[in-house]
Amino acid sequence: MEPFRIKAVEPIPFPSLLERRRMLSDAGFNLFRVPARAITIDLLTDSGTSAMSAAQWAALMTGDESYAGARSYERFETVVRELTGYPEVIPAHQGRAAERILLGRLLRPGDVSVANTHFDTTRASVEAAGAVAVDLPAEHDAPAPFGGDISVPALRELLSGPDGARVRCVVLTVTNNAGGGQPVSMDNVTAVRRLCDRHGVTLLLDASRFAENAYLITERDPAHAGRPPRDVAREVFALADGCWASLKKDGVANIGGLIALRDAELARRCRDQLIEVEGFPTYGGLAGRDLDVLAQGLLEVTDPDYLRYRAQTARWFGDRLAEAGLPVLQPTGCHAVYVDAAALLPHVPPHRLPATALANELYLAGAVRVSELGTLVFGRPHPDGGDDLPAPRELVRFALPRRVYTKSHLEYVAETAGTVVAKAAEIPDYRIVEQTGPLRHFTAVLAPG
Ligand code: F0G
Repeated sequence: MEPFRIKAVEPIPFPSLLERRRMLSDAGFNLFRVPARAITIDLLTDSGTSAMSAAQWAALMTGDESYAGARSYERFETVVRELTGYPEVIPAHQGRAAERILLGRLLRPGDVSVANTHFDTTRASVEAAGAVAVDLPAEHDAPAPFGGDISVPALRELLSGPDGARVRCVVLTVTNNAGGGQPVSMDNVTAVRRLCDRHGVTLLLDASRFAENAYLITERDPAHAGRPPRDVAREVFALADGCWASLKKDGVANIGGLIALRDAELARRCRDQLIEVEGFPTYGGLAGRDLDVLAQGLLEVTDPDYLRYRAQTARWFGDRLAEAGLPVLQPTGCHAVYVDAAALLPHVPPHRLPATALANELYLAGAVRVSELGTLVFGRPHPDGGDDLPAPRELVRFALPRRVYTKSHLEYVAETAGTVVAKAAEIPDYRIVEQTGPLRHFTAVLAPG
């Protein structure tokens, strides 16, 4: 059960079928463009959508809004240092700002960044620096406990091959959001650390879901069973040279990001850039009160009861969606349940966007909003103008905002999914009518059929 009770509530809308149809078509059949006032259950993202605790609301009032050297920054810095062990702590307003600043200082044109999977904004920051983003996820034939791992053999081969000298950093995204929300194992981080030492390469974490990764290590690796998740998280941080994070996830807050590093010189360069684009180094684009909320959130998020509830909710919800007939990726992680849209809609080829087709149908059926992680997000226009280059997988993500929806909300989503599965063969495909750049999914205009 939820390890909290509800103190403040917010009504949710129930648009009619007619309204849902109009909303979707007015939005160019892109759920990012549908207004939230037309959504009943919003599982678009777990990012910035958390419910704050009473202690976080209280922390808002203690925020120190001094431009420089605020007490709020000191509290934030203390918590982040205690958690990560990194001495250099730089706040940013959200994850992608942190990525842009850090990767922009670290990478030079022609460099290579290797990851288990770069999140889409991370890839955009690597490419903006003129560098190349290479994903080397470990391949598994069967469901694996640590499906977020990077392939150590492939990384070793790259580092000792002709392009090895170009590799500037290895990034482990914990958990691996774009790769199904799966955790990275302690053994994997340890093996990557050794390779990075041997080749003089920087190891960075995208630590946006560090607490969920740590909890899943305690659940899935008998060597770490029963350990406090915070200790496990600290051990993972200790193996890397630094991190960035979107604190809109495991900061359990509505805004925030950070860079934390051992390297004082790299941190100095990041701060110089921070001042140009975000703000003074002790607030980094946030209000003082946000830093207090984040300091509190970063303490709460490693609570074992909270993390157990979070993992159990995802597992239970995954089982309900599977019972409803959706091809659910197993095992589930913490922040979302992923569904294989290509398996449900074999009549829709990748360039006709099966993941979008499923997501849109869930909206029409019950004003449920999920996100597509298929060819609209990860595919690319064909250089010769042919069909889009497809994404590796056509996934739909049912993300779980932290501490927001109850089991009965999620039961409603599973019921809605059942009605969609029943008419899967009739679900229309989509084509892209308008698009811009590598982050096209946020604004693209689509049309059915
Ligand atoms: N890294 C990871 C692993 C993420 O999942 C995200 C955001 C970011 C970086 C960027 O952080 O949004 O604070 O700028 N993921 C959101 C999501 C958008 O829905 O998964 P941001």
